[in-house]
Amino acid sequence: MANVVLLCIVLKLFLQDVWVTEADLYPESDFIAVIPTCEGREEIISGSRAWRQGIRTFIATNASRHLPSFKKDNQTVESKDGETYRCILDEKYTSGVRFHGARPGDLRSAISPFLAHAHYSNKSETYKWMLYGDDDTVFFIPNVISFLGRLNHMVPYALTDNLWYRRRGSNSPYHPHPDAPRCYPCALPEHSSGQPNQGSIPAEAVSNSDPYSILGYTPPTVCEACTVDVACKAYREANMDCDAPRAHGGAGIIFSKALLDFVDLNEFQRCLERVWGASGSDTLISLCLWEAGYAFTDPGVWIQGPGHPHEGRPHPHYIIFDNRRQSTALRADHFQMMKSKTCSGSCAYDKWLLKSMVSMHVAARAHPTSAAAGHALNKTLSSYYRAMQLAS
Ligand SMILES: *[C@@H]1O[C@H](CO)[C@@H](O)[C@H](O)[C@H]1NC(C)=O
Ligand SMILES: *[C@@H]1O[C@H](CO)[C@@H](O)[C@H](O)[C@H]1NC(C)=O
Ligand SMILES: *[C@@H]1O[C@H](CO)[C@@H](O)[C@H](O)[C@H]1NC(C)=O
Ligand SMILES: *[C@@H]1O[C@H](CO)[C@@H](O)[C@H](O)[C@H]1NC(C)=O
Repeated sequence: MANVVLLCIVLKLFLQDVWVTEADLYPESDFIAVIPTCEGREEIISGSRAWRQGIRTFIATNASRHLPSFKKDNQTVESKDGETYRCILDEKYTSGVRFHGARPGDLRSAISPFLAHAHYSNKSETYKWMLYGDDDTVFFIPNVISFLGRLNHMVPYALTDNLWYRRRGSNSPYHPHPDAPRCYPCALPEHSSGQPNQGSIPAEAVSNSDPYSILGYTPPTVCEACTVDVACKAYREANMDCDAPRAHGGAGIIFSKALLDFVDLNEFQRCLERVWGASGSDTLISLCLWEAGYAFTDPGVWIQGPGHPHEGRPHPHYIIFDNRRQSTALRADHFQMMKSKTCSGSCAYDKWLLKSMVSMHVAARAHPTSAAAGHALNKTLSSYYRAMQLAS
């Protein structure tokens, strides 16, 4: 047991040395994690400690078996491991009226980034980046650190490249959607020359003919906040409706503190109160950020290297928030191959993905119990660290 812990520490130090390069601007103390959950999912929260070691965490829930004294609305309890628990009771059902979201906990989940922001934005213990996702979402911190190293935290960002979208009058929504109105970020000047530290996807791993964008929409690249007006410009110029795309809670969102500084908590809350029957908290958040004037920034395609067949164009290969291919990239039998000289094509792509992926949805509902789901979260992290070591 002690050996395992020691091995993990050694592995972690080793990985930080190997993978985190000069773009490593943001130490772990610049991050907070925000996890909305509910009573009965305590083991998922325990399993998620594997990815958020050293990261302050705000857990919004309605009750916890581990905290017997914790049951009053708005009560805050500091637990061990730098975790802050905030009690927010389930939304009460009023007969004949639907919930604001699909479930009674969706409102809690949608407001939790703002409550966490209020909690941590005082001068004594502030933060720069907020990692927000479902309780069964894993963030890969070394990758998060190296990719955020190219972004300015003073810019209001809501980052994700995994957006649900449906154009008005078209078929059902899907994700990630290439035509979702959004922006690409511009890199910090000091990092804009040279290769992105993840390296680029090997050209042979990407087929040139993948039809992806239907409208031929290319998000604008902006160095400031992605406002709705900027994200929608091309749509409006083409006389097309521009609706809010919706984030995917499982893939998660990374917010800069600056974004939450700009959005007024009371107005956001009033917006949430106006929406009824949203499909989930991720939809609630997306709609109310849109109403506050903000659209998402998609870092995916932007991290590719220059000269690529898809340079600057949306392409599913560049998804780094819960890319579907990740479970393959994390398969143990792949790791040795990634290390070998014969690693090309899809193997080279998996190797790139391993170093670039930011988050993964472990999907608790695919597991029989919350203990099994918690174990799967923990196991995902050990596979990741092992793969990073072997594939280097
Ligand atoms: C907490 O929320 C869950 C899910 O909505 C619900 O099943 C449970 O009864 C709630 N517990 C309390 C103490 O409100
Ligand atoms: C992950 O699982 C291992 C053993 O399976 C355990 O020793 C470790 O404490 C777990 N880590 C966390 C953060 O729960
Ligand atoms: C908890 O906070 C919310 C939002 O500020 C407020 O509407 C509610 O009345 C509070 N509940 C209690 C019991 O103080
Ligand atoms: C400032 O943040 C710390 C850390 O979360 C918290 O414990 C403290 O209560 C906050 N202080 C104020 C004045 O909000």
